[in-house]
Amino acid sequence: MRYAPITERLANLGSDKWAVHFAGRARAAQGEEIIELSIGAPDVPIDPGLIAACTQALEAGRTGYADGRGEAGLRTAIARHYANRSGRAITADNVLCLPGTQTALFTTMTGLATAGDEVLVGDPLYAAYDGIIRSTGADKVSVPLKAAHGFRMQPEDLAAAITPRSRVLLLNSPHNPTGAVLSAGDIAALGEICIRHDLWIISDEVYEHFLFDGTFASPFDNPALAERTVVVSSISKSHSAPGFRSGWVVGPKEFCARLQPVSETMLFGSQPFIADMTAWALTHDSDTARRQREACARRVRIVCDVIGNEPAVRPLPPAAGMHILLDISATGLSAEAFAWGLLDDEKVCTMPGTSFGAAGEGFIRVSLTSPDDLIAEASRRIARFARSIASSGRGT
Ligand SMILES: Cc1ncc(COP(=O)(O)O)c(C=O)c1O
Repeated sequence: MRYAPITERLANLGSDKWAVHFAGRARAAQGEEIIELSIGAPDVPIDPGLIAACTQALEAGRTGYADGRGEAGLRTAIARHYANRSGRAITADNVLCLPGTQTALFTTMTGLATAGDEVLVGDPLYAAYDGIIRSTGADKVSVPLKAAHGFRMQPEDLAAAITPRSRVLLLNSPHNPTGAVLSAGDIAALGEICIRHDLWIISDEVYEHFLFDGTFASPFDNPALAERTVVVSSISKSHSAPGFRSGWVVGPKEFCARLQPVSETMLFGSQPFIADMTAWALTHDSDTARRQREACARRVRIVCDVIGNEPAVRPLPPAAGMHILLDISATGLSAEAFAWGLLDDEKVCTMPGTSFGAAGEGFIRVSLTSPDDLIAEASRRIARFARSIASSGRGT
């Protein structure tokens, strides 16, 4: 049988990247006691108010078809957040509701890039971006994010990667996996290049509420960049609600009008009861994000304290988010070999940095969404494993 080229472009996207994670899960299912630090799923419980709002909406019969753009009440609630943030008049016409940041990214990229185009994105990058770019037929062009610059994209690196085929810059701040945060100045400098080359900016802001200190900045809030910026985000992280699949796109009105048929063709409107629950989430104070952020910040300190001055492994404390990178290059092992060895010898499951791009070589990513005592125990085992490699000469 014949299949469309998209099935080729997306084939085997996940399997290699997630091999250590899946092996960890399989071993746990067979009874091994694995400490799983490979996934960043929020561990602060969901606010019962969200469950109540969802149940109430279901009982009220909010189970029919929805508005193709998303329910008006929710779009207004989302618009209010961005109006407050940017100080501009953002309305429901600037918003489309989609099931999670993932579909918001997919739909937005479908609306902006096509075969023959290039999409610029930092490396390392969130693992799902590869598929989102490839699905359109566009080519990914990596902009190196360097540890020496705190993994913040540098204007000269962006400029060097631009070609006549460049169409979109995909930004993610706070960043997964590095935890880097772009300042308003960083964004202005990158944005100037985008203006010069007439590029769209897609800004993945799913970790907006997870800065350990400092101020969040977005290209959407910069008036010079607003007309070329599309924000994608969701309540997955901010409200510990990834299973509800509730996210959105916020961008220029014309962009949203053009994207509506794309979204409707795929989805025909997200669920009204999820919309009501999300509107409730966005219009009521909740301490979920604060508690998760504080837990993650505390666990960064635990990792750094426990690993201490271990010569072969160096934590790189993030400025935000749910993950920390550890530099394991001094062991002499590749990121893959280190992550596999750590799983085999110490039963700690992490992600090799190379699952997030070539620039992830030399790092492993540790998720900070497990209880403090497990994070401490895992850190002890990581240090012990790194030491054993160094003393056995296995890494040389
Ligand atoms: C950077 C980034 N973007 C998007 C997502 C997916 O978010 P959602 O659950 O809203 O689809 C994640 C999830 O881990 C992420 O880390």
